[in-house]
Amino acid sequence: MLLSALVATVVLAHDSLAHPPRPHPDRPDHPSQSPRPWGFFTNNTIYQTTGTESITYPRYIELTDGTIIATSSLSGHSPNYFPIFESRNGGASWKYISNLTDQVNGWGFSAQPALTELTFPLGGYPAGTILGTGNSWSDNGTRIDLYASTDRARTWKFVSHIAQGGRPNTTNGATPIWEPYLLPYEGQLVAYYSDQRDPKHGQKLAHQTSHDLHTWGPVVNDVTYELYEARPGMTVVAYIPPLDQWILVHERPIGNSSSYGVNYPVYYVMADSPLDFRNSVGRPIVINNATAPNASPYVVWSPVGGPNGTIVVSDADRRQVYTNTAGGALDKWEEHGTPAGAVYSRAIQIFKDRPDSLMVYGGEVYDDFGKGLHVPFSATVVSLKKTLRTKVDAFS
Ligand SMILES: *[C@@H]1O[C@H](CO)[C@@H](O)[C@H](O)[C@H]1NC(C)=O
Ligand SMILES: *[C@@H]1O[C@H](CO)[C@@H](O)[C@H](O)[C@H]1NC(C)=O
Ligand SMILES: *[C@@H]1O[C@H](CO)[C@@H](O)[C@H](O)[C@H]1NC(C)=O
Ligand SMILES: *[C@@H]1O[C@H](CO)[C@@H](O)[C@H](O)[C@H]1NC(C)=O
Ligand SMILES: *[C@@H]1O[C@H](CO)[C@@H](O)[C@H](O)[C@H]1NC(C)=O
Ligand SMILES: *[C@@H]1O[C@H](CO)[C@@H](O)[C@H](O)[C@H]1NC(C)=O
Ligand SMILES: *[C@@H]1O[C@H](CO)[C@@H](O)[C@H](O)[C@H]1NC(C)=O
Repeated sequence: MLLSALVATVVLAHDSLAHPPRPHPDRPDHPSQSPRPWGFFTNNTIYQTTGTESITYPRYIELTDGTIIATSSLSGHSPNYFPIFESRNGGASWKYISNLTDQVNGWGFSAQPALTELTFPLGGYPAGTILGTGNSWSDNGTRIDLYASTDRARTWKFVSHIAQGGRPNTTNGATPIWEPYLLPYEGQLVAYYSDQRDPKHGQKLAHQTSHDLHTWGPVVNDVTYELYEARPGMTVVAYIPPLDQWILVHERPIGNSSSYGVNYPVYYVMADSPLDFRNSVGRPIVINNATAPNASPYVVWSPVGGPNGTIVVSDADRRQVYTNTAGGALDKWEEHGTPAGAVYSRAIQIFKDRPDSLMVYGGEVYDDFGKGLHVPFSATVVSLKKTLRTKVDAFS
């Protein structure tokens, strides 16, 4: 512990003294300028961690009026909670507006947040209500709980327990649940999550739906693999309008086996309905039959890039993004460099009214977790069109 604290101090000093931020000719904004509202910029700090704090697993929702509400896993508190930030100018400036805290279990909000906005009234809550969830855990179990805010994320109220499982334990045979993702869809709220409770699967991906936010329907499988040891995890879902299809990305580790050099290869399934992924066969993302993204993927879609727009995927280990302008065709994935850093469960975002703006959230990578590096929670915005022409190693 002492050694890693020492190493962290040396690394920080080295970084800040020897490598001051330099302007980059290809970037409209660079770290020495303050970000312009709705502009392009790199590593704009949302929140600087201190002490034992560490940021991973960023998540966000863009509200109907363009306001961004962002959060992340924040470790280092007991109990932990999700810090909530707001930007009204495309990530150029941020305000720390509230904490989403566990109000019912006494376990804290340990990790894995998700946010959404109700786009229709549901369960007595008006359209515009912001919903938040995450994993609340202790030695007594894992709980995915739903909270609502009717005042633009300033205050939060517990609504319901969506699902619960055994204590956190990633060994096959244990029964926890993990990693929720929320989607309001056709008069209901869909809650996706990773599920170790089914004895047929080390882990699977499933969802439950609610028509009133209080009661939840049966567990419906989204992604299962016949092989018990396969542990599909970390659902993120996006809609692809030109195809009228939905895409669900996930990681698919199998024991310690590796594929194209990675242990948590990223797979995707596509379906006509976000409630009906179970018959789609998982396909791996591989670029040029050589490179594969690794772990905790995120997916968004932009109309930029051609008749099918662009599917953009992020992974946990690399600075680049993975793109597909051919409607998800298996052999048409590309990789492109970004100036942003790699982050464990890195979220990416396309602004609804600015489809060329790709925001990449910053934080710490999995292997550095707990080392006290204090990589800030940050936002980078790049042009997607330009990114589609950027070489994979342009920023390395
Ligand atoms: C969030 O909680 C922390 C720890 O209790 C506190 O220091 C901070 O002021 C809170 N922030 C907001 C915006 O409520
Ligand atoms: C776990 O459950 C036991 C028995 O109900 C209880 O005494 C204990 O306080 C619980 N611990 C936590 C962290 O909830
Ligand atoms: C984790 O789960 C495995 C499989 O059920 C079990 O053997 C092990 O004891 C569990 N570990 C803890 C710390 O609960
Ligand atoms: C993979 O796991 C098996 C069984 O747990 C173990 O025997 C083997 O050494 C592991 N292989 C690697 C490369 O870690
Ligand atoms: C992909 O690469 C492997 C190993 O280099 C090779 O055996 C295989 O033929 C390649 N497949 C295609 C479709 O190029
Ligand atoms: C768009 O996607 C559809 C469905 O996958 C595919 O048939 C078509 O070839 C794609 N168009 C282009 C330009 O890639
Ligand atoms: C942005 O921050 C990441 C750390 O998250 C760092 O790796 C990367 O080099 C930074 N980008 C630039 C252009 O400074």
